[in-house]
Amino acid sequence: MPEALPIEELHYERQIQTSIGLVTIADTGQQYIFKGRPTPNALYHEIKMLLSIDRHPNIIERPVKLVTTQTDAMSEARVCGFLLPYYDKGAMQEALPRLRLQGELKLQDQLRWSKQLTAALKYIHSSPALFYSDLKMDNVLLAHDENGKLKAVLADLEQSRNFYNWAPPEVYYIEWIVELGDEEVARSGLVEHAAYEKHAFLFHVRESGKMEPIGIVRRGGRVFPLGRSGVNCEPTATLEETKQAIKSFWRGEMEKAERFAWAQIAYATNLAQESDIELLDYLRRPKLTEVLEVLNGFSLPTL
Ligand SMILES: Nc1ncnc2c1ncn2[C@@H]1O[C@H](COP(=O)(O)OP(=O)(O)O)[C@@H](O)[C@H]1O
Ligand SMILES: [Mg+2]
Repeated sequence: MPEALPIEELHYERQIQTSIGLVTIADTGQQYIFKGRPTPNALYHEIKMLLSIDRHPNIIERPVKLVTTQTDAMSEARVCGFLLPYYDKGAMQEALPRLRLQGELKLQDQLRWSKQLTAALKYIHSSPALFYSDLKMDNVLLAHDENGKLKAVLADLEQSRNFYNWAPPEVYYIEWIVELGDEEVARSGLVEHAAYEKHAFLFHVRESGKMEPIGIVRRGGRVFPLGRSGVNCEPTATLEETKQAIKSFWRGEMEKAERFAWAQIAYATNLAQESDIELLDYLRRPKLTEVLEVLNGFSLPTL
């Protein structure tokens, strides 16, 4: 278990993202990343995951310290965050466009990073963490390896949810079914009781599907039907039209989620028809081992 460090011993340098700050430890002047969360569950879960995965060159290092806070001298110190080594090359999200602009984004590097990330994901699958749910470029950090080459490092082991456009259908559909079927989980207080009852029984089912463009968009904090946002010469939808677009989007999504759930039940009970198998397209996705084999066998043209 990493040592605890009172938050007062940290010197704040700058905020990198909502939950992430660059700090120095007052005594040593050494720089670290501080990650904190207002809600303890996600924070404690991430600490547990980081500590339960054995070290891997392409997975973020374990927390260096746990950071504690104390409301008054009589109360117990509580963990409010943790310190990670600072990867000063940052996340791929920003680094890749920069490297491309500088003409330094090489296919050799991209191939190496792909292999490293695939290997990291495989490693997580056989570790106590079991899965990685947030694969996207801002969760992949870059760092120099022992030969001075840039390597990809998978970060953010929170394992909570992911955005619609980054998650596979079998994940987001099950989330929607759970939300509709569980009053505790549902984000909207407006879900009708009949909807909870209808979806409660599908909780245990995982489903899958193909991603289609969403019929609604958000512009400047407001929601509009696709192509009707009033921006870039588009006409502006009325409130009523927008409500209708949102309703029909969600109705369509829930129908698809249910179809996938039924297809998965059919598959699990050996009753699947061809049309069910067609829907469960994750069955046809390559395994990570197969991906790694293809990547390893890929030879780049010599320049
Ligand atoms: N150890 C680190 N070194 C450098 N930058 C980091 C580090 N950890 C996180 N970051 C930066 O902070 C961002 C958010 O971190 P992340 O752990 O993904 O938090 P969240 O759970 O809020 O997504 C990353 O996209 C990256 O830019
Ligand atoms: Mg993240």
